[in-house]
Amino acid sequence: MKLAILSRAPQAYSTQRLRTAAAQRGHKVKVLNTLRFAIDLSGAEPDLQYRGKLLSDYDAILPRIGNSITYFGTAVVRQFEQMDVYTPNTANGITNSRDKLRATQILSRHNIGMPATTFVHNRGDVRGAIEKVGGAPVVIKLLEGTQGIGVILAPEVKVAEAIIETLHSTKQNVLIQRFIAESRGKDIRALVVGDRVVAAMRRVAVGDEFRSNVHRGGTVEPVELTQEFEQAAVRSAQIMGLRVAGVDMLEGADGPLVMEVNSSPGLEGIERATGLDVAGAIIDYIGNQVAFPEIDVRQRLSLSTGYGVAELVVHAGAELVGKTMREAGLWERDITTLTLHRGTSVIANPKKDVVLEAGDRLLCFGKLEEMRSMIPERRRRRARVRKLPKETETGT
Ligand SMILES: Nc1ncnc2c1ncn2[C@@H]1O[C@H](COP(=O)(O)OP(=O)(O)O)[C@@H](O)[C@H]1O
Ligand SMILES: [Mg+2]
Repeated sequence: MKLAILSRAPQAYSTQRLRTAAAQRGHKVKVLNTLRFAIDLSGAEPDLQYRGKLLSDYDAILPRIGNSITYFGTAVVRQFEQMDVYTPNTANGITNSRDKLRATQILSRHNIGMPATTFVHNRGDVRGAIEKVGGAPVVIKLLEGTQGIGVILAPEVKVAEAIIETLHSTKQNVLIQRFIAESRGKDIRALVVGDRVVAAMRRVAVGDEFRSNVHRGGTVEPVELTQEFEQAAVRSAQIMGLRVAGVDMLEGADGPLVMEVNSSPGLEGIERATGLDVAGAIIDYIGNQVAFPEIDVRQRLSLSTGYGVAELVVHAGAELVGKTMREAGLWERDITTLTLHRGTSVIANPKKDVVLEAGDRLLCFGKLEEMRSMIPERRRRRARVRKLPKETETGT
């Protein structure tokens, strides 16, 4: 394949390793400076110029978009996507993961363990938000910090309030997070490629520092992940839409707590800690996937009028429970089931003899009118049971 690594740091360890790994495998590879692209929407088809010249054909890109150029960098990645060039990390995936709040919001509905987090704007809501996550000591984070910069541990509520007020006054958004004391300055970095963790390390903070980032002096050691941690990492990356990602997790008392998903994980620390060829694993994965560029399925499938995608939930006690897919009769109603989600597993193209269970979720494509009748009422946040009015006589 012909691969472009989008990076502004051709000499950096990660870029060098990726370039070498690609060349060793017989691929053509170039490192292109993300900021030297020009997005061209003047012609009949989306196009890209590089350093003022028409860009040649590439089969795949590997974006390494730094935090300081997220907007332009993701615009370039999106342009490659429009041109059907394969990318393991989509513009959407990069944007979603970059903002710690946005990432947490997206992960929050998928049963991924995360440190309790709140986000407020008004000064009057700060104290309540701190209490909501367990009070002081409390962690305060800038939404787009990296390398541990912008992550603060406030020992007392008053101090936390002062810090948050100060940051708000300079128009900085911060999230408020429970301090996971039991992880004691350690965290886990799992490198996800495709649907597996290819390498993992534990980072340990130095001295009384609570941040374990390598840039904050943290030391690294290889670690064998339990299935629980491995699954949390892979699912987080997949939900974010990233096929190459570094997932940071704290070791909470009840299992993994995902803190963030990085779309351009550094390779130096993890390759040194584990002795594994992570760059090679990334290149091999891209080589295998080149034929399958990411498609915005929902958008494409909605183009025929009257048709669309919907998720049907099989509720406990519903008549679908215990029936086979065949008996459920979706085909007769012009509804195709793309996937069946059961717990944390996903069955693609479920066969007609699969028996439906309560809690199953079917991702379907079909006539919207047909599916509308099958979509249950939106679940309420809490079942509301009202108190009887005081004067009610229950009768004797
Ligand atoms: N809620 C928390 N409880 C305990 N430690 C935390 C918490 N959040 C972050 N940390 C520590 O701070 C480090 C940096 O936080 P992180 O959210 O990953 O920001 P960054 O993007 O700067 O790496 C983590 O690796 C971890 O060691
Ligand atoms: Mg981190």
